Amino acid sequence: MTKQTYWYKEGVFYQIWPRSFKDGNGDGMGDLFGVIEKLDYIKSLNVDGIWFSPLYPSPGADCGYDISDYMDIAAEFGGMEAFQRMLEEAHARGLKVIMDLVVNHTSDEHEWFQKSRERIDPYTDYYVWRPAKKNGKLPNNWDSMFEGKAWQWDDVRKEYYLHLFAIKQPDLNMDNPLVREEVKKILKFWLDLGVDGFREDVITFISKEEGLPDAFPLPGYTGISKYNHGPHIHEYLQEFRRDVLSHYDCMTLAEAPLVSPRLALTYIGPDADKGCGADIDMMIQFQCMCADCFYSDYMPLPFSLRKLKKAFSSWQAGLRGKAWNMLYLGNHDHPRVISRYGSEEYRVESGKMLAAAYLFQQGTPFIYQGQELGMTNWYPARIDMYEDVQTLNQHLKDPEKKRLKLYHRASRDSARTPVQWTDGPNAGFTEGTPWFYVNENYKEINAAAQETDPDSLLNFYRKAVALRKSLPVVRDGSYREFKKWSGRLYAYERVLGEERLLVICSFSKKETAFRLPKACRGKAGTLLLKNYDGTGDIAADGKDLLKLKPYEMRVYRFGG
Ligand code: GLC
Ligand code: CA
Repeated sequence: MTKQTYWYKEGVFYQIWPRSFKDGNGDGMGDLFGVIEKLDYIKSLNVDGIWFSPLYPSPGADCGYDISDYMDIAAEFGGMEAFQRMLEEAHARGLKVIMDLVVNHTSDEHEWFQKSRERIDPYTDYYVWRPAKKNGKLPNNWDSMFEGKAWQWDDVRKEYYLHLFAIKQPDLNMDNPLVREEVKKILKFWLDLGVDGFREDVITFISKEEGLPDAFPLPGYTGISKYNHGPHIHEYLQEFRRDVLSHYDCMTLAEAPLVSPRLALTYIGPDADKGCGADIDMMIQFQCMCADCFYSDYMPLPFSLRKLKKAFSSWQAGLRGKAWNMLYLGNHDHPRVISRYGSEEYRVESGKMLAAAYLFQQGTPFIYQGQELGMTNWYPARIDMYEDVQTLNQHLKDPEKKRLKLYHRASRDSARTPVQWTDGPNAGFTEGTPWFYVNENYKEINAAAQETDPDSLLNFYRKAVALRKSLPVVRDGSYREFKKWSGRLYAYERVLGEERLLVICSFSKKETAFRLPKACRGKAGTLLLKNYDGTGDIAADGKDLLKLKPYEMRVYRFGG
């Protein structure tokens, strides 16, 4: 039996990074009690589902992405009982629930790894083990993305194990059919409990090239060409689809570093369907997060609007009619988008503009916790205030001051400070001592203040999401970009039959002019969404030339 799942094409999702969302029991750590308290708030954003970053038991070396038990919920988040209550309450509100599936690696404290290092069957070959080379060299030249080289010596087994991420995150050996059976058990366990799908963590890394050959050196990323989109990736994803996923009405979303629209089609396009559905349903691509850096946030470049627009438009065009886009401008792995692509000075204006820039494209948008409040980057005074293992291992040889400056700009800890609910103690996140620093700007930026302000960013998100869902042209219409060469404006139209939606976004602090495209001239346009007072509809005999204020955005509807 094959089930085709389409509901995700109608939806908008909200991402929760549980540690920092809301503490419900006063111990300083976000948890599912806090989530349950805030379900009505989430629903009020007009979203349709929640993606949870990992909730499983974990030693916390990578804030939950190092899992020690896949079939349980961490006690600090409330355990299984709280999860089931949350799931029921979310479903009762019509909210889908998506789990994070992290199976490229486990925690080194997982029972499988403990047994594997002792060569206890069947776990002996669950991980990627290699003996030391005779010349004392590591098994190959690959880098770990988080901590030095990708190999760690294990004194128990007297071999090296592969870790593409932290030392405490050994890579699983997905070529072992027993490991794939374990993955299927995990999928089935959560689907039977009633969850609606999975966001699959660095899933394109699970098939490593045979023989684990040396790779061309690429600072910090040596080896990525040998394991990203590896030789058996489609085969393994098809196996998960065929044996488990296709039997449920569920959605899958694959995190995919270095993927182009064309390569994405091999996973999510029509040809990827080998009889029981495509490998997965949507891809999380990274180009939209690289408009101010070279591949990684730690290789900063000046922000380029042209690069951002190219990322947007190439995905819109590349998947059109063939596959479905996932849309986002931030998550737990990147600093805050207003601080990157917008302006902290024009925080509310640019926050609204950025929302319109992506929410009216074709695809399924994701909103990261705090994005709807316009939370901005965090600028701690010292390096030792950072928590994240990736951050703390970057550019170790640089002087302290230089490192701090880079971390201010690039660290994902900026997205991991507690959500700012009120202007009270700890921003209303906890009644205890928060596990992490609260951004000092919470007195100004918090949900409570925005609830009562009709022009707040929070209320704008509610309006924009509702508008998006009310307009079939956003789901189905064609996409066309204007002024591609402009370094200040991003403008696009969506057209379906007689209905034409025009989205105009200024990424500039300067006043900027935009001439209406031909198809709109001499026609009446209704202004559906704006971020400045004093603008209104366009009359049929009105002016063609619009003057946009700093970070101004407008969404017009013509015809329809
Ligand atoms: C993904 C996660 C990130 C994590 C890494 C290793 O990129 O989103 O948070 O650190 O994988 O699991
Ligand atoms: Ca708690």
